[in-house]
Parts: sequence; C-alpha cells; structure tokens
Amino acid sequence: MKAVTWQGPRKVSVETVPDPVIEKPNDAVVEITSTAICGSDLHLYEVLGPFMRPGDIVGHEPMGRVVEAGPDTDLKVGDRVVVPFQIACGDCFYCNQGLQTQCETTQVTEQGSGAKLFGYSEVYGAVPGGQAEYLRVPHADYGPIKVGDELPDHRYLFLSDVLPTAWQAVAYAQRKQGDSIAVIGLGPIGQFAARIAKHQGMTVYAIEPEAERRDMAARHGILVFDNTDDSVAAIKDATAGRGPDAVIDAVGMEAHGDMQSAVAKFAQRSAQFLPDKLSQPVMDKFGMDRLAALYTAVDLVRRGGTISLSGVYGGQASPLPMLTLFDKQIQLTMGQANVRNWVDKILPLVEDPADPLGVDDFVTHRLPLDEAPGAYEMFQKKEDGCIKVVLEPK
Ligand SMILES: NC(=O)c1ccc[n+]([C@@H]2O[C@H](COP(=O)([O-])OP(=O)(O)OC[C@H]3O[C@@H](n4cnc5c(N)ncnc54)[C@H](O)[C@@H]3O)[C@@H](O)[C@H]2O)c1
Ligand SMILES: [Zn+2]
Ligand SMILES: [Zn+2]
Repeated sequence: MKAVTWQGPRKVSVETVPDPVIEKPNDAVVEITSTAICGSDLHLYEVLGPFMRPGDIVGHEPMGRVVEAGPDTDLKVGDRVVVPFQIACGDCFYCNQGLQTQCETTQVTEQGSGAKLFGYSEVYGAVPGGQAEYLRVPHADYGPIKVGDELPDHRYLFLSDVLPTAWQAVAYAQRKQGDSIAVIGLGPIGQFAARIAKHQGMTVYAIEPEAERRDMAARHGILVFDNTDDSVAAIKDATAGRGPDAVIDAVGMEAHGDMQSAVAKFAQRSAQFLPDKLSQPVMDKFGMDRLAALYTAVDLVRRGGTISLSGVYGGQASPLPMLTLFDKQIQLTMGQANVRNWVDKILPLVEDPADPLGVDDFVTHRLPLDEAPGAYEMFQKKEDGCIKVVLEPK
C-alpha cells in the first residue's frame, strides 16, 4: 500500500510499504477514505524530529471502512468507522474515568508517556499512522466510532481528533453561558474551540495572525483580533478591563512571535520587571522562544480565571511566569483530548442538518494521498488560504 512517511525534518514522502494485517484478535484493518493533516503533525515535521525514524508512517486523523475485523471486536467488514487518535482499552483505571489518553493498558511506560497514539513518534509507541491506504487499528474492540452511511466523510472525520480536542479545551475552561472566553490561535483546533464556546452561549474573542483564519472564525460569530499588543488591550477593554473569564491556548509550541519581545511586553504590561541579565539565560533555554502564546494567555486572562491549554508543549525546560500565575490565581488545565469521553456529546451536532458547528465550512483543501509532501508544506506555511487539509487515498 501507499503511506505518508517521515523522512527527516520538514521532509515527508509517499512510499510503498507492506499492507497491515491483523496481529491480535481485537485488531481491525481499515481501508482509509479520508485522513487529515493536523497541527500536531507539524511538531513531528520539526520539533519532535529526534523521536522519529525514517520510514515511520504518520497521521492520526483517519476514517474509512473495515476490511478485516478480529474475532474479539464487534466490527464487521464494511462498517464505516472513525478512528480516534489515541489507542485505549476502554476498561482500565483511567479509561473508566474518561481519561483515555492515560490508558494504563497502552501507556508507553518505557518513555514515561501516556496512551499510545497513531503515527506519533517513539515517545507515543511508534505505532504506524493513518495517512495511508490501510491502517491496523489495535484495541478495535473499543476505539473505532461506528458512523452511518448517509453523510459525507467530512461531517464525521473530525471526531478523530479536532472536535473532541476543541470540546475538551472548552470543557476544561470551566465556563458557562454568558461568560467570556478568548481563544489564542485559529488553526483547526482554535476554529472549533471558538465555535463550540459560542454554541454554548459564551462571548468569544480570538487572536490569530493569519487573515484567512480570522475571516473564517468571523463567519461563525467570533470577535477576531490579530496578534499585536493592541489586541490584548482591546480584549481587556471589552471585558470591563479585567480580561476574559478564560483563555484557551490553541497554538502550542509552534508559536510565531519573537519571545524576547513577548517576554519584554509581558513584563511591561504586568508591571513586572525582568532584568536583562536575568532574562537572558532563561531566554536561551531550549523551548523558551516557543511560549509566546502561553505568555499572551497569562497576560490576558482575568484574575481567578482559567487557562485551558490544548496546544501541545514538548520542551521539559520551559520556564513559566510562576509569580504571575500564582498572583493572578489562575487555574491551568491541559492535556491530550480523551476522544471517546466527548464523542457522544458531539456526534448529534455533526449529524444535525443545520450544522450548528459549521463543519461544512472548515476543510480548505482535499488532495490525493500522493500530494502529501506539498500539502504539509502548504499547511505549515499557511499558503493558499490553507486551514485544514484532507488527504483522500482513493
Ligand atoms: N490536546 C490535544 O489533544 C491536541 C490535539 C490536536 C492538536 N493539538 C495541538 O493544538 C495546537 C493547534 O493545532 P492546529 O491543528 O490548530 O494547528 P495550527 O498550527 O494550524 O494552529 C496554530 C495557529 O496558531 C496561530 N499562531 C501562531 N503563533 C501565534 C501567536 N503568537 N498568537 C496567536 N496565534 C498564533 C497560527 O497562525 C495558527 O493559525 C497544536 O499545538 C497541536 O499540536 C492538541
Ligand atoms: Zn491531530
Ligand atoms: Zn485503558
């Protein structure tokens, strides 16, 4: 079969590899009809490169038809399924509390990591991913979400990752109807986090440097701002000078922005002074320049508010503005999304003919699997108005 493989930093290629087969009685093999590229794939593309091996199959947002089902699954050949990005057993200490990303059966203990993820480096178990013609799905007795035959793929596909991630980001922000919330970053995750918060009756502000991404969010009733200093001030003005009740960071470690200046501006705005000689060694640490969005969140959120991190942060040596976090009494929540925990709430919304979350206005590019290398580059560089790419193997 053909599959998208990691070959080196900023280099993926489509290769012919052996077809996957059933290895355990609770496995299934799925023929992929749609498979998306995620902002998380961009971390593999660059930052997480050291944990990848040339030839690793990437991708974790797939759906398709079952072509082979192990005897211990209740799937049958022909079932249409969406495959969650994490592999979980559904029946352990963590799965039973809705923390499928911490599944004790699939935890990658040798790396100190949570549940295995498809196509996501040896840190998460080096499991072959879903940007391929076929995918072996371990724990198919629990993971795959069976869906109907009527609606097009794009209505269901984002149950694999983007929608549960955005839903969890809003849930972890712990707000209610009438509250205010700001979303930083309007990539795929930010788009849906903003729409879900709006759908739940909140006033939603968003900060994003790319005009096309702001335009898309504005079409769904989001109050959008570019990522300049004035935006933080403007959102504070609009929220009685305090800042929103919660901030969702939907950027993570690929943040754009000069950290030196982000820290300096933060220090000014929060009336704290970080002397140059003190800030410099901190700034030189690996990962520091990637915290721009998180700093904006700490600055923006009102006292006593919540910051919900859905953006992925990978560095171990990430200095945080602990003084300000503590002084502002901020609650910080985060983590990979527990897909199966949220799906039952989201499924009726994606099937609703009125399309309340606007799933029909999301995918900007549909391309054959063969065009993955160009698609990765376009998505990373945000060229041609690219917001979400779906690869179609057939
Ligand atoms: N928690 C989870 O389970 C989970 C699941 C999927 C993705 N993610 C993470 O969510 C993050 C977003 O993913 P995505 O698919 O939306 O990717 P993306 O990279 O397309 O989105 C990031 C967006 O942030 C914007 N941005 C960059 N710097 C900014 C700044 N300083 N201020 C404001 N906006 C800024 C970019 O222009 C871009 O639109 C990534 O870190 C990804 O790894 C987490
Ligand atoms: Zn993803
Ligand atoms: Zn489990």
